[in-house]
Amino acid sequence: MRTPMVVANWKMHGRLAEARELAQAVRDGLKRPRGVEVAICPPFTALAAVAEVLAGSPLMLGAQNCHWEESGAFTGEVSPAMLAELGCRLVVLGHSERRHSSRETDEEIRRKVAAALRHRLQPVLCVGETAEERRQGLTFTVVEGQLRAGLAGLPAEDLVRCTIAYEPVWAIGTGLTATPSQAAEVHGYLRGLLSELGSKESAQAIRILYGGSVKPDNAGSFAQEPEIDGALVGGASLQAASFITIAKKSAAKSGASKE
Ligand code: PGA
Repeated sequence: MRTPMVVANWKMHGRLAEARELAQAVRDGLKRPRGVEVAICPPFTALAAVAEVLAGSPLMLGAQNCHWEESGAFTGEVSPAMLAELGCRLVVLGHSERRHSSRETDEEIRRKVAAALRHRLQPVLCVGETAEERRQGLTFTVVEGQLRAGLAGLPAEDLVRCTIAYEPVWAIGTGLTATPSQAAEVHGYLRGLLSELGSKESAQAIRILYGGSVKPDNAGSFAQEPEIDGALVGGASLQAASFITIAKKSAAKSGASKE
């Protein structure tokens, strides 16, 4: 029912020449990905260039953030309409780097999710606890708050168009990862909440990705967990070979979907 998905989050990396080269290498290495959907989220400045490289391939283009308004006096912001026009199919929202360094609030993230859906962009809503919150036993409380707030008010038909990414903050860019069973436990909890917010059927259809130091050598162990539906990849997505390996290892066995 759920085809795994692997999303490259290039963060603030990739000047134009580099971005084109990396996107081309990923495209060449993943001509017809089987059992996995693949998306690349370059910085805004490289979206148009990467869109050209990916044109005609099954690889999807995504962005790393958007504003909730269509247009207006919002200096430095980019609207979902602008992203959709460039060919973006998805947008990462509520990434912890934005929650923490840019002080994004749950309410802003909720508006962004709703705005993305209005423009037929698939939101990839990120949730995750800090090391301190985990130490205090607050992991479930924190991710529950972020999930409920980010998806508040969405009708069931919109809920199923969202993807969730569980990204423990302490695992992002640190080389530390949640163990597959630690991640699966949180994924299971999130899926339970999604059934409450929508229905059991819709919750079964929503992908929950894991993110946080996913690398070629650990991607396979995450993929084995039935609750983990792919990966949001930062550092390892900046090398074509490692991202391609992660995508292949995340593919559902024999092209089947998770259920
Ligand atoms: P990482 O980043 O793979 O470098 O840990 C993941 C993310 O921030 O999405």
